[in-house]
Amino acid sequence: ALVSMRQLLDHAAEHQYGLPAFNVNNMEQMRAIMEAADHTNSPVIVQASAGARAYAGAPFLRHLMLAAVEEFPHLPVVMHQDHGASPAVCLRSIQLGFSSVMMDGSLHEDGKTATDFDYNVKVTRAVAEFAHACGVSVEGELGVLGSLVTGMAGEEDGAGAEGKLDHSQLLTDPEEAARFVEATHVDALAIAIGTSHGAYKFSSPPTGETLSIDRVKLIHARLPNTHLVMHGSSSVPQEWIKIINEYGGDIAPTWGVPVEEIVQGIKHGVRKVNIDTDLRMAATGAIRRAFAQNPSEFDPRKYLKQTITAMRDICIERYEAFGAAGHA
Ligand code: G3H
Ligand code: 13P
Ligand code: NA
Ligand code: ZN
Repeated sequence: ALVSMRQLLDHAAEHQYGLPAFNVNNMEQMRAIMEAADHTNSPVIVQASAGARAYAGAPFLRHLMLAAVEEFPHLPVVMHQDHGASPAVCLRSIQLGFSSVMMDGSLHEDGKTATDFDYNVKVTRAVAEFAHACGVSVEGELGVLGSLVTGMAGEEDGAGAEGKLDHSQLLTDPEEAARFVEATHVDALAIAIGTSHGAYKFSSPPTGETLSIDRVKLIHARLPNTHLVMHGSSSVPQEWIKIINEYGGDIAPTWGVPVEEIVQGIKHGVRKVNIDTDLRMAATGAIRRAFAQNPSEFDPRKYLKQTITAMRDICIERYEAFGAAGHA
């Protein structure tokens, strides 16, 4: 059944687990996520970005999500809009039937980084007012995702637009977070702790200096009743990098957010964990391998099936590691 995000995150908090929120752009991703949730009996958050709407078209995306609800009626499913850059985008998603929206006030409408607290409060509060009137949940974001070492925001976060960011922007301030939540009435708060979107998060395995789970603890201590969201939380599996490169790909050495670190975050208030890149890498690796191993094959269903299996296995691992399995 289609449910609001608040319902699932409240349940996750009560039972001390976290939910992966997987991005969806096509049928294969949707099927992989749902088969994994069905296999592990997990609640589902699927999210669509502006890029997903541009790729698939809003009606196809909407019906992909609705098809998941129809085929798996025993699983609760949240249709979440990822990184809305304006109240208008969120309103349109509500009209399309989404049960949850993210107003990302750390982005301007043109996609450039926004660091103005009052602007962020203004747009996020506006979205919370109309979304809550419709029974739709709201995620806000305070802080800018980016590297604590280079001061650069990630690919989809206004990279390069504003130059180097400092730690006051790259690490969400607990006091500011408390003021933000009180002023906006968001259901969930995305925080900046050193992660960034995409495959190139860390140039070596992260340490407490580059990935601040300590900051999660401080924010949770100040806001014990707020559901926290970690973006840029792909683990960037080394084994998939290896497979991609073994079969003709060219991925430079890189590291993501280790599952154990996410599990630490979940012990301290993280309830939603955004994952996109891991499924992209698994799909790419599976396709490259299938092409190399079966060069005479030309039925797309044969190699796309391999992508479903590869993505499904990652989803199963995350549902289990985050403690969501068994909670549908
Ligand atoms: O927020 C970033 C997600 O990975 C979505 O990426 O904008 O390329 O669809 P996208
Ligand atoms: P990754 O790029 O780490 O998968 O992050 C996805 C995300 O945060 C979507 O909002
Ligand atoms: Na989101
Ligand atoms: Zn994100």
